[in-house]
Amino acid sequence: MKFQTKAIHSSQSPDSQTGAVVTPIVTSTTFRIKEPGKPVEYDYSRVSTPTRKTLENCMADLEKGSYCFALASGCSALHIVSQLLKPGDFVLMEEDSYGGSLRLLEHLKKVQGIQVKLIDFSNLEQLKKELHFKVKMIFLESPTNPLLKIIDIPAIAKQKASESLLVVDNTFSSPYFQNPLDLGADIVIHSATKYIGGHSDCLAGLLISNRLDLKESFTFFNKTIGSVLSPFDSYLLLRSLKTLALRMERHHENALELAHFLEKQAQVDQVFYPGLKSHKGHEIAKKQMRGFGGVLSFIIKGKQKQALSFLKQLKIFTLAESLGAVESLAEHPLTMTHGAYGSSSVTESLIRLSVGLEDIEDLIQDVQQAFSCL
Ligand SMILES: Cc1ncc(COP(=O)(O)O)c(C=O)c1O
Repeated sequence: MKFQTKAIHSSQSPDSQTGAVVTPIVTSTTFRIKEPGKPVEYDYSRVSTPTRKTLENCMADLEKGSYCFALASGCSALHIVSQLLKPGDFVLMEEDSYGGSLRLLEHLKKVQGIQVKLIDFSNLEQLKKELHFKVKMIFLESPTNPLLKIIDIPAIAKQKASESLLVVDNTFSSPYFQNPLDLGADIVIHSATKYIGGHSDCLAGLLISNRLDLKESFTFFNKTIGSVLSPFDSYLLLRSLKTLALRMERHHENALELAHFLEKQAQVDQVFYPGLKSHKGHEIAKKQMRGFGGVLSFIIKGKQKQALSFLKQLKIFTLAESLGAVESLAEHPLTMTHGAYGSSSVTESLIRLSVGLEDIEDLIQDVQQAFSCL
């Protein structure tokens, strides 16, 4: 089956009892056990529960994994992955990563003696030298947040030591545009709060892998930590997955058109969007992605004052953190999402846009009127 068919049907045949076409929301926290000691599929909902299980099976299929865990947030997914680390382990991390991932690793460095090195993964020559270490975990996003750098995932998968786990946060692409497990990653995580949920109404995280040797550990951490996704939120994600392909296509079209528009504006110094031919990672992006997503960032001419007044003038774009939903959002990474943990390239004049599904003419007009007020 192709992506769009899987997104609608994978693991979702009509309910055997009622014939309901939509996966029921099973709220029960506990399940009858027919005979003591005899294993059953479901016994207690922290461990597993039907609505969540359906979502996990569908997502594993879409991300080309053999299993998935649906969690309460993207940060929970990160937390479970970090449980694989032991004191003294060495982690290599892309410097332009989501602030919450950097915060977690910084914390593990302080309290558990895990060694963390932040570098620019798009500089393969520098990275190659670092891969000499016995690195336990390599952690990256591609495209990165907020500078939209493209990291060559297959090149890293090929050059890393076999003991190193390659973890890719695929939030910006969604499985519709990129499948890191096919590119050589060991573990994929998502903030499903973003494109997978797609409507700014559901906080969720996903962890997907093919590494059967890690499944037992993840099952243990999942059961022990218990930061699992609720049945209702699992239902919301199943519903959202059915339109993911359509939404991603439109996010990509709108973002590309807006990026081309921004490139021509006198008020703009530089646009970062992997779909642009001028983007440093465009050729790699074309090889490993099937579309370039809906997030772009740009450097406005001037200083923080110009960036903040531009943001203040926007009428359709809402000034807000987060990304990946139907409505367009704009933010100032330095003072919002990346203030405490951003790389030095997150400057005062950088603006990040999450391009939504509104009519592109209205979005362009909104940006135009904001520039004209500067
Ligand atoms: C790329 C990326 N990964 C992970 C997260 C964390 O996800 P959540 O907010 O769902 O915990 C975010 C949140 O913004 C993100 O942008």
